[in-house]
Amino acid sequence: MRFDILTLFPDIFPGYLGQSLLKRAIDGGLVQVCLHDIRKWSRDKHLKVDDRPYGGGPGMVMMVEPVVACVEAVRTQSAEAGPLVMLTPQGRPLDQAGVERLSRHERIVLLCGRYEGFDERIRLLLEPEEISIGDYILNGGEVAAMVIIDAVIRLLPGVLGDAESSQCDSFSGANRLLEFAQFTRPREYRGLQVPEILLGGDHGEIARWREENSRRRTEAWRADLLDKPLEEGRGNP
Ligand code: ADE
Repeated sequence: MRFDILTLFPDIFPGYLGQSLLKRAIDGGLVQVCLHDIRKWSRDKHLKVDDRPYGGGPGMVMMVEPVVACVEAVRTQSAEAGPLVMLTPQGRPLDQAGVERLSRHERIVLLCGRYEGFDERIRLLLEPEEISIGDYILNGGEVAAMVIIDAVIRLLPGVLGDAESSQCDSFSGANRLLEFAQFTRPREYRGLQVPEILLGGDHGEIARWREENSRRRTEAWRADLLDKPLEEGRGNP
């Protein structure tokens, strides 16, 4: 699977791409990540990519021309154009169903904004899929792009070993419960004991304990998950 990241700050990414599962997936040829510096598509002699908003107000807005030129050039670089995802707090909130949907593509183009946002004409011309990773404002879309890559690659065949399978993850498939509590050695720490059932080796008992634990945690902490339809449409405002 190929990710193209369009950003003003490509240097943010190599540290993250060079570690752990993602490094293994890239080294093994399962994942390819191509970084594109939007500034290279600026036609301004100072390589300007942002400007003050018409109508006044604080901050700077990303300019339509370099962003559209960059997206159009990058999308033609590969046979499958793939979805264009714009990272923005106005987007559809990302959830596991959205991650699963994205993981079915061969290629995803991720457009990261900075400053006060994008010139509206970028959205109107390119009709991207707009995604938010939560109801808070980041300094830019770069961290959100990493979140998407991180969540999507877990679902790609061969990226996780059997022992790390994503199938039992919370929120995956029809599983809308939080994960059950996990323990590892030692059996006792500062007076806190590992539940006896987990030490006994009765797999039926252990499965029942875990199911019950998942249900109780979900009811206590995220009861909203229990009422959520499996695939929510976004509708039109
Ligand atoms: N850019 C700024 N804030 C964001 C958010 N919450 N999600 C996605 N992109 C963003």
